[in-house]
Amino acid sequence: MLKEIIEPLLDWYDANARVLPWREEPSPYRVWVSEIMLQQTRVEAVKPFFDRFLESLPGVKELAECPQDRLLKLWEGLGYYNRVRNMQNAARVVMEKYDGRMPENYEALLELPGIGRYTAGAISSIAFGIPVPAVDGNVLRVMSRLTMDEDDILKQSVKSRWEREIGGMMPQDRPGAFNQALMELGAVVCVPNGTAKCGQCPLEAFCMAREAGRIRDFPKKAPK
Ligand code: ADE
Repeated sequence: MLKEIIEPLLDWYDANARVLPWREEPSPYRVWVSEIMLQQTRVEAVKPFFDRFLESLPGVKELAECPQDRLLKLWEGLGYYNRVRNMQNAARVVMEKYDGRMPENYEALLELPGIGRYTAGAISSIAFGIPVPAVDGNVLRVMSRLTMDEDDILKQSVKSRWEREIGGMMPQDRPGAFNQALMELGAVVCVPNGTAKCGQCPLEAFCMAREAGRIRDFPKKAPK
């Protein structure tokens, strides 16, 4: 039963979670900015950009009103500038439609520019405590190894199936911790290729790929 992973995973997260600026104060805005930055850049590299960005633009209003050249300057070094342009467009919608407050609602978040299912799930669960999944590549790697899932994780249908599955097992009292624990495990322990640190994994006893000695074979990705 996959639900058996919840308790050991949360215990592991409580003992091992990295101290990160957006975790210390997980407001919707801070979680949003961090998740957008983390989509293209590693945690360690994001930290200084995050601090600088939040200092300059501490809230939705400041982001919505920021002149474009200043905004792009703040993003310099992170790349993929469309992300910050989308964020500003979303901030303007939040100002007009929601009086400057991020909507406390997964579906409403999903409608904002640049916010997809992963980001809407992360903001909903981490900032608002709503029990919805946030499935990224790290989470898919952990899940495919745990269950020796042969399906191609690059397929949208496979990602959707895992969203349903994880959505159905969310611990209602700690959805944000659960989602972040899965991401964190994938980012620091259940890492790609032959370098997984199974000896440090709280889920080793539940992992089918580990038992079969086939960690390297998962996740499956169809050749591009
Ligand atoms: N990668 C992206 N978002 C993350 C988060 N909130 N915690 C850990 N790793 C992440």
